[in-house]
Amino acid sequence: MLASVALLLILFVANVTLSVRAYVLYERADVSTLDVIGASNSLLIELLNAETGQRGYLLTGKAVYLQPYDAALSAISADQQRLRPRVSAVPGGRQYLAELNSLVAAKMAVLAETIKLARAGDHADALRKVDTGEGKRTMDQARGIIADIQRAATTAGASQRSDLHTQLTIFAVLAAILAVADVRAGLVLRHRLRRAATQIRSLNANLEQQVRQRTIHLERANKNLEAFAYSVAHDLRTPLRGISGFAEALVDDYGDRLDETGREYAGRVQAGCARMSNLIDDLLHLSQVTRATINLQDVDLSAEVTAICAQLRAHDPGRQVRVTVQEGVRATADRTLIRSALGNLLENAWKFTARRDGATIEFATAPDGDAPICCYVRDNGAGFDPAYTGKLFQPFQRLHDTGEFPGTGIGLASVRRIIERHGGRTWAEGAVDGGATIYFTLNTEGTHE
Ligand SMILES: Nc1ncnc2c1ncn2[C@@H]1O[C@H](COP(=O)(O)OP(=O)(O)OP(=O)(O)O)[C@@H](O)[C@H]1O
Ligand SMILES: [Mg+2]
Repeated sequence: MLASVALLLILFVANVTLSVRAYVLYERADVSTLDVIGASNSLLIELLNAETGQRGYLLTGKAVYLQPYDAALSAISADQQRLRPRVSAVPGGRQYLAELNSLVAAKMAVLAETIKLARAGDHADALRKVDTGEGKRTMDQARGIIADIQRAATTAGASQRSDLHTQLTIFAVLAAILAVADVRAGLVLRHRLRRAATQIRSLNANLEQQVRQRTIHLERANKNLEAFAYSVAHDLRTPLRGISGFAEALVDDYGDRLDETGREYAGRVQAGCARMSNLIDDLLHLSQVTRATINLQDVDLSAEVTAICAQLRAHDPGRQVRVTVQEGVRATADRTLIRSALGNLLENAWKFTARRDGATIEFATAPDGDAPICCYVRDNGAGFDPAYTGKLFQPFQRLHDTGEFPGTGIGLASVRRIIERHGGRTWAEGAVDGGATIYFTLNTEGTHE
């Protein structure tokens, strides 16, 4: 549609340009005819002037009469030059020009000859030559040719004007048709654009409505899930406490009647119950992270990291770990949540470097194009197989044996959730036995519920 409107406009402009050109030619045709008439009349007058000068000189012998003759000589040649291109363009013009020029030449030759005779003192001879009537005949013929030229020029001009008039009429009609077509196409285009805009508006409204509905459904689903998690946790705890309690009672009351294996089984039942209790706690913790209200403030991340590492050292004084903390790393964040995330990352680093001599943990920032701040926690511990990087942040996914490195596999899942709630991203790099680096960005303008 847009292409056809553009085409119509181009045609309209082309048509107007051609019309203007035709109009200019139309005006010029008139001027050209008038030019031919003017120049030929002037030529005739100059011939008469030349003849008048010659006659005066022959009759009086006074040189003063030759002045109009001399002036006419250059004027005649100028008129002939003016006529040449204009008359040549007229049908039969070249023929007329040839005849006129030879008559002018003949006339001027007679005039020059008689003046020459008179100058030589032979006035009688000169007058006799005039009396032959040859000069008059030449003048009459020249008049006749000039009249023919003027007629031919007038006819040619009139026919050219008539042609151009027809062209102008056609152009005007075409211009009118194209203008109407342009306006119509423009109106159709405007109508379509309006219709498209209305459709887009209605689609947007529809989309917003859908998003609102989905959000309501999602919120409802989240609430249901939370309620479910709570009731599951609560309902699971009671039988769990029962199992654990009875296993304990079994050992306490009937321990002497059990053999070694029986006692070991009872111990395993108790350990399983303790582990399941931990899992339930972590599950509830993850659900709390999801629900907690975000309270943003300026947080000194470096200070938080230093404090957490001090606690880790206090709990495990036997370990020699070199901790490097980049100073002055600050961010706008929820202090409690970000402390919990940093705690999880540093606990992991501490845990997975347990078997490393010369263990190191580093906290620093890294450049990142997308977010205002990007931090990482790096260690030189056990590392992990990079093929499973995708699993790291999923709840209860562990890449290490619980016997070797204890844990429930919920830490990084809650880190990811906390960072996402700060509008950030999390990712990990590592290699088996080559340490691990966990990155996170914070984009607090984009905090999420
Ligand atoms: N610094 C690290 N070095 C090597 N592996 C890591 C490191 N951090 C995490 N992982 C791997 O990712 C898994 C998931 O980590 P996550 O913190 O979620 O669980 P966890 O530490 O095992 O248990 P939890 O944190 O719940 O006590 C870990 O079990 C481990 O396999
Ligand atoms: Mg952990």
